[in-house]
Amino acid sequence: MSRLPDDRAFLEDVLAGFAKPQKVLPAKYFYDAAGSDLFEEITRLPEYYPTRTELGILDARGPEIAAALPPRATLVEFGSGSTVKVRRLLRHLPDLRAYVPVDVSESFLLSEAAVLRADFPKLRVEPVAADFTQPFALPAGVGTEGVAGFFPGSTIGNFEPPEASRLLAQFGRVLGNGATLIVGVDLVKDRTVLEAAYDDAAGVTARFNLNLLARINRELGGDLDLASFRHRALFNGHASRIEMHLVSTRAQTVGVAGRCFAFTEGETIHTENSYKYTVESFRALAAAAGWVPGAVWTDPERLFAVHALRRG
Ligand code: SAH
Ligand code: AVI
Repeated sequence: MSRLPDDRAFLEDVLAGFAKPQKVLPAKYFYDAAGSDLFEEITRLPEYYPTRTELGILDARGPEIAAALPPRATLVEFGSGSTVKVRRLLRHLPDLRAYVPVDVSESFLLSEAAVLRADFPKLRVEPVAADFTQPFALPAGVGTEGVAGFFPGSTIGNFEPPEASRLLAQFGRVLGNGATLIVGVDLVKDRTVLEAAYDDAAGVTARFNLNLLARINRELGGDLDLASFRHRALFNGHASRIEMHLVSTRAQTVGVAGRCFAFTEGETIHTENSYKYTVESFRALAAAAGWVPGAVWTDPERLFAVHALRRG
């Protein structure tokens, strides 16, 4: 993809988002190189329990999770990134037919696939550079029987519930009838634990959030003063989601590509939602998207859940 359409889409999304009564920025723009590094840092924070808890579940329950997959399965990971989590499963899947990492970040995808081949020489690795929210075909030769999907990290929580349902249905179409899907989902819990996870003492999540404004300045010629915005994370219990906002600490007018936008003191830009599910509410979402809910594995503190779903 050339840079121009990406830049134009970013500009259009910023201008449209800043023109709304509740200003918004799409969360997908967090992940430039600096934002991806900050997210990696977030996953290692003491307050950010999801990553280490999910890894703990994959380690402790790996043999059971592997047994939920069909024999000689083809395993498709949606948004495979650094393949850290699937490695925890691969050690329990010696007879895997193929592993299909799917990611939009093509160069990273291909370099990670090469590392994985070196580490697992007997494994057939067939990367696919694709946007998993859009229909795409599995590589020829990986088979249509015994296909399984893997979607860890509670990334499903960053989609509005109707979009999450559409995404699960889309995964079903990619994987085909009879498929199994393993999904990691963050659980509803005490708001103090949730809010600390998204507003850490070291201020890494604040830098991750403010990086959106730095991107606007750098890439779209914006003149936003980062020191006059501060990070806020709150749990909206009614909607069962963490909301991240950037709060304007003073009345101000900002410029982006020749357009001006006024902020009152305390006005916010809503930058991200991270939905939290109960075991039951996620099973209901999956069922509405055409999946049959199966086994669920959680940690002893019930912070995080890994669900097995099957498609009839
Ligand atoms: N699944 C891995 C990596 C998670 S990071 C793990 O849990 O360790 C999320 C990855 O998803 C990133 O590499 C990002 O490039 C990719 N990604 C995000 N949105 C995507 C999309 N719409 N289609 C394909 N890949 C996507
Ligand atoms: C990528 N996603 C699952 C993270 C989450 O927890 O919703 C993104 C994140 N935002 C702030 N901290 C982490």
